Amino acid sequence: MSQRRILLAVTGGIAVYKSLELTRLFKKQGADIRIIMTKSAMAFVQPLSFQALSGHAVHFELLDTEAENAMGHIALTRWADVLIIAPATANTLAKCAHGLADDLLSTLYLAATCPIYIAPAMNHVMWHHPATQTNLKILQTHGVHFIAPESGEQACGEMGIGRMAEPNTIYQRVIADLTMLPILKNLNVIITAGATREPLDPVRYLTNRSSGKMGYALAAAAQKTGANVTLISGVTQLSTSGLHNFVQVETAEEMHAAVFEHIENCDIFIGAAAVADYRPIESPNEKIKKNADQLMLVLQKNPDILADVAALNLPLFTVGFAAETHNLEHYALEKLTRKKLNMIAANWVGREEGGFERDENALEVFWHNGQKTLAMTEKTELAHQLIELIAEQFYAKK
Ligand code: PMT
Repeated sequence: MSQRRILLAVTGGIAVYKSLELTRLFKKQGADIRIIMTKSAMAFVQPLSFQALSGHAVHFELLDTEAENAMGHIALTRWADVLIIAPATANTLAKCAHGLADDLLSTLYLAATCPIYIAPAMNHVMWHHPATQTNLKILQTHGVHFIAPESGEQACGEMGIGRMAEPNTIYQRVIADLTMLPILKNLNVIITAGATREPLDPVRYLTNRSSGKMGYALAAAAQKTGANVTLISGVTQLSTSGLHNFVQVETAEEMHAAVFEHIENCDIFIGAAAVADYRPIESPNEKIKKNADQLMLVLQKNPDILADVAALNLPLFTVGFAAETHNLEHYALEKLTRKKLNMIAANWVGREEGGFERDENALEVFWHNGQKTLAMTEKTELAHQLIELIAEQFYAKK
């Protein structure tokens, strides 16, 4: 494995001391790590400490002619395999979310083309503030990977969520992403994601709560293992940058058509989309007027994309999802058998944690004569675990 090039941006919070340990961990692994610090980070720790641990001078000025001559801000982002912002304050999240570029870090954020990891750290009330939560959502649409803060006693003495993740957690997550083995190299993988929209009339539609996060995370994880991925997605708010092949659809019928257009030579099909089971039988060209007190909708069953793919009898490995509010295992096994799948990943929906829209999820994965629990974690991490399991069973079947 070649030497990893890590750009660590440190912003001003008490958790800065943890980033010293993070620097040490990467250095010990053999990575080349460069540090940038904001002015407020330097109020907590001297740049000299990071310089000693990384073996390089710390970058902190945007308009420093000497630095620009050596390794300027654009060159730094091109050099890096990965940009990590840890700790990331509420102010930093806000600046990045809204595209400000008034210092070295915020400018680097806009110029970066490499994957970006953010480990937020702040007081729990600031974390829960709608402004912060909105900024997190915006950053997700930029394709940022979050390493969630932890709960517990905070530096201010209050209890709650907002403590920066431990250095080892950040290190393990980044290194796992960077070192994913090419286990699916040259295999063609189709993944469906997000919700379909079934039009009622030109201005209204039936849909569900799927955000696409699970499917997009799977696409990113599969690409990292060398697969040639085609992501066929309903309308979402997520970034498609970095994806090999992306097909945007709206309805279940369009998704069905797109899948069948790409299915030839497919090795692995993963149905993570929440496809509408039914569509309105009629969708008038004009807006339905609200004249009557009651409105009857007649629905028509949509084609089952996953079952139709499995019924093709092609030499491909089919993975379905099961989203259930009760009897998870029972329904998952029933779908595995009825749809003639190779594997099914079942998740609870409609609960406090996991399922639709959330950043985290847990899966009960079943295949013939086997089962594995993938515990609640970030969807990006869970996707890596599921891709590894799929690869294992794909080769076992062969
Ligand atoms: O998108 P997120 O907000 O991240 O949420 C993730 C998720 C909860 C949507 C995802 O993890 C998930 O469970 N996806 C499948 C949702 C679903 O529709 O499950 P189901 O049990 O109704 O369908 C079973 C399987 O058949 C699924 O693989 C589905 O893609 C497929 N299907 C269903 C109906 C249909 N007409 N065609 C299909 O292909």
